Amino acid sequence: MYRIAWMPGDGIGNDVMDAARVVLDALKLDAQYVHADIGWEFWRREGEALPQRTIDILKASRCALFGAITSKPKEEADAELAPHSRGKGLVYRSPIVRLRQMFDLYTNLRPCKAYRGNPLNYRDDIDLVVFRENTEGLYAGVEFHPVPEDVRRALEASSRAMETFKPVASDDMAITARVITRRGAERIVRRAFEYAQRQGRKNVTLVEKPNVLRETSGLMTRVARRVAKDFPAIELWEANIDAMMMWLVKNPQQYGVLVTSNLFGDVVSDLCAQLVGGLGFAASGNIGDQFAVFEPTHGSAPKYAGQHKVNPIATLLAAKLMLDWLGENEKAARLENAIAAVIAEGRVRTYDMGGMNTTVEMAEAVASRL
Ligand code: NAI
Ligand code: MG
Repeated sequence: MYRIAWMPGDGIGNDVMDAARVVLDALKLDAQYVHADIGWEFWRREGEALPQRTIDILKASRCALFGAITSKPKEEADAELAPHSRGKGLVYRSPIVRLRQMFDLYTNLRPCKAYRGNPLNYRDDIDLVVFRENTEGLYAGVEFHPVPEDVRRALEASSRAMETFKPVASDDMAITARVITRRGAERIVRRAFEYAQRQGRKNVTLVEKPNVLRETSGLMTRVARRVAKDFPAIELWEANIDAMMMWLVKNPQQYGVLVTSNLFGDVVSDLCAQLVGGLGFAASGNIGDQFAVFEPTHGSAPKYAGQHKVNPIATLLAAKLMLDWLGENEKAARLENAIAAVIAEGRVRTYDMGGMNTTVEMAEAVASRL
């Protein structure tokens, strides 16, 4: 029996996770679902959006399914804190970003497939999978404002390009470091190639910008070329991030597996999600070597919270990714076929697809097709 951490979080996270449960129960997955607290409510009450008890549950679980959370800018986070927690210097940090780092969930996997009959498809022949590096790059958290004197001095001593900024006051400047490690680049590219091999895909596209970001994108590119040698049947394509945005709008059907660093991957995967129906259809896996957290890409959509009207398909597809990761491939395939059948039939549709059905009605339609 699998022990699966169950984290609905805030707002519509609860609606869509209820829907996921309908489907997993219908699949008769042999699992125990352990509720774990996460999100804004716990920040407000306890000053901690990711309580230690949740981390303990995660550590004792095989993997996790996560709904969505609310997060707000610094000023609001401070203002909404319970009176007894104020003035203690508590700082709000995104629990999902922390989970990715804490459990070294370095692969962000985002399949984007146009299911036949989805009225929101940009084209009907899109079947892309984005591999986004999830733990380093521009989101590594190495940021400065104001820029400390010693950081400035070190940069000025070793980079000619810093001369341009000499007259700028430290408080009038902010710096975010883009950290790419050889190990980080190697493992994300390798996961993408392994996936392409398993799925019988013919190519992997590296999306970077090595002509300008010579060192960081340069390292990614060199590593990718070396990893590609281990997969002679799969071609490595290289594209610049800016041009790729145009190609993905012009000819999205020509691409299969994309691999890129953290910020570029965030951007690419949102574009790809919109090509196949938007937030109601976008699922992702945060995957490490030992642990994984699966989630719909959308947030807590406060304006729809508790209205039971949002589309649960993103979360059902997240559950499908989870089943694949667990090695439950037959159940995963059955679930995907059932989702595809309900979309193709077009009888049950949530508001985003132009329908009137509720979140749970959609889940029940899928469950009845299993
Ligand atoms: P959001 O993703 O929550 O919603 C934006 C809009 O997308 C919604 O108003 C709705 O029109 C549509 N939408 C989202 N999910 C849908 C679904 N399942 N079916 C149909 N339509 C759907 O993004 P927003 O409004 O920018 O952020 C709301 C809160 O969520 C914020 O506090 C934000 O920080 C947080 N957030 C959390 C994420 C996470 O938990 N991973 C990711 C993105 C945002
Ligand atoms: Mg994003």
